[in-house]
Parts: sequence; structure tokens; C-alpha cells
Amino acid sequence: MRTTITLPRPDDWHLHLRDDAMMRAVLPATARHFARAIVMPNLVPPVVTGAQATSYRARIMAALPDGMTFEPLMTLYLTEDTDPDDVAAAHAEGLIAAVKLYPAGATTNSASGVRDFDRIRPVLERMAEIGCPLCVHGEVTDPGVDIFDREAVFIDRVLDPIRRATPDLRVVMEHITTADGVDYVKSADTGLGATITTHHLVINRNHILAGGIRPHYYCLPVAKREKHRLALRAAATGGDARFFLGTDSAPHTDANKLSPCGCAGCFTAPNTLPILAHVFEQEDALDRLEGFASRHGAEFYRLPVNGDTITLTKGTPEPGPARIDTPDGVVTVFDPGFDLAWRVAD
Ligand code: NCD
Ligand code: ZN
Repeated sequence: MRTTITLPRPDDWHLHLRDDAMMRAVLPATARHFARAIVMPNLVPPVVTGAQATSYRARIMAALPDGMTFEPLMTLYLTEDTDPDDVAAAHAEGLIAAVKLYPAGATTNSASGVRDFDRIRPVLERMAEIGCPLCVHGEVTDPGVDIFDREAVFIDRVLDPIRRATPDLRVVMEHITTADGVDYVKSADTGLGATITTHHLVINRNHILAGGIRPHYYCLPVAKREKHRLALRAAATGGDARFFLGTDSAPHTDANKLSPCGCAGCFTAPNTLPILAHVFEQEDALDRLEGFASRHGAEFYRLPVNGDTITLTKGTPEPGPARIDTPDGVVTVFDPGFDLAWRVAD
């Protein structure tokens, strides 16, 4: 039985770092294990322009504790008014790694997102020309579409038409939650990848709703039925380079989670790597963790694989970290429902 595994230092290809006190509280959890992360732009107000991304990046670097290294890969929040020249300039200077598409109203802080997808065609064409990837929150917001169907409907109604109209656009389907998403990614020859979160490999919708409602398992896109979780596990652990880790670690205080209208998001940054080692070991695929966590995303984003390494060791199973305290309040860490035998060596 294997008890040690060493990987090139992983990256997180979808992360919410927030801002101010919350950012200072959560950033070390990511920087401890990950070299780089694609930083989501859904602040209030959102990070829309290159100038805003420059200043957000500087705030992240200022919040990084002494002695830690971390490279934030910035994104711009796509609106119907986004200026293609601003995107091209930010991409050319190496400031942004991608642009993020939120359908308006799809998730936390997405009110400024896109309603009319025709209006973003010029910017998508420009991104295709310059090779700037589009990260997509793939859910329709039509109230007539059941929340558990929103990803599958988005693929048909929005994503596939965009990809047909702009075939050279490189697209990441963020946090896929369905077998439909897995199949769609596999159907594309080039230019389409997908991130898979830690929590969607572990929970299905029963974990949220059966035997009492568990707000800490509520995130968007919401976890689906078991057959979809199994499809995600097969995709993540199967060695296909089109699938890579994006934790979607999304901290909210308990006050904001445990309320009559609780926020969506699971905070997985502190324990993602031990959970992934557990999942990959269960699938007899520990040797493929390196591809999923350390290689495939870098390849998609055309960045070098990190030169340094981290080591995970297997010991006595213990509960993971339960919470962190922030000046804004307690943030509960995602509970996978099993003790963690794997830990990241210091
Ligand atoms: C994210 C957040 O809280 O910012 N929430 C979530 O449930 N994933 C937004 C998002 O990525 O949808
Ligand atoms: Zn997210």
C-alpha cells in the first residue's frame, strides 16, 4: 500500500479569494499548498476592467504572509459593456489569464453578468484571436428551468451556439456537475476543458437535503444525483487532460450560510489535497492525481508545470480542520464526511 506521494506543486484553476479581511484570512490556506490560482472576479463591485484587476492583484500580493509564495492568475468579469481593447491590453501585458462569463443572476454577485449573449460576440471574437480563454459559469437562469437541469440546458442553449459561432475560442466549463457536462467536454476535439471541484467528487444532492438540510453543502452549481457524481469521479480520475482541478473554494461566514436565504459556496481550500488523495486512492488512481491537480490545467492555460513539489503522506485517519476564524465571523471548512488519512507534509 502506498503511503507517500510527491507531485509537482498543484494549482487551483478556480478560486474565490474575496477581498479585505476575508481575503487575508483565507489566502494562506491556498498559498500553503498551491502555487497558482485562477482568481474569480465576482467581488462587489466586480473586477471588470484591466485597471481593477491590477489593483486587486496588488491587494492579493499585499495580503500574502511573509515567506509564502503564490501567483494569482487574474480574470476579468465579462459584462455586456466589456471593451475588447481593454481585454486585449490586459491579456497582452500578462495581467489576466482568462475572462469569466457569468449569466446574470446565476450565482453569488452575478448581477452584472450577461443577459444577451449576442452583445458579447465582439469581445469573444477578439479573445479567440488573441488566445485568451473564456471561463464559463454554465447554468441558465431562466426561472422556468429546474435548478437541477440548468447546466445541461446551458450547454444546448448557450455554450454550444457560442462555440459554433466562435470555434477558435478556448473555453473552460467551470465546476461541471453533470454527466452531460463530462460528455460535452469529451465530444470536443480541441479548445474545451473543464474544472471539477473537490466537493462535487464527494457529495450528491442527498448530502444537502436528506435527513435535514445542510447549508454547508449548498453551492452553485448545486450537487446533482449520484450518477452525475460518479461521472465526475470517472472524469477526474481517468487521466483525460481535458479535466483539471478547480476547487471553487468559496468562503462565506456561517452567518451568511446558516440563514433563511443562505449563500452558495463550499470552503475547500484547507483540505482539498487530502480529500483528493482519498478519492483518487478509492478509485485506484493515485498515480493520476498528478495530472488532475498539477499538470492538465497548466497545459490548458499554456503555462509551465510548477518546478517545486509537495508530498502527501498517509497516516492515522483524523478529522480535518473544522473552521477558520475571520474578522467577519467563522467560516466552516467543507466536511467530506470521512476522516482524512492523507496530509500534506510540511
Ligand atoms: C461562488 C461564490 O460564492 O462566489 N459560489 C458557489 O457556490 N460556487 C460563486 C460561483 O462560483 O458560482
Ligand atoms: Zn466559483
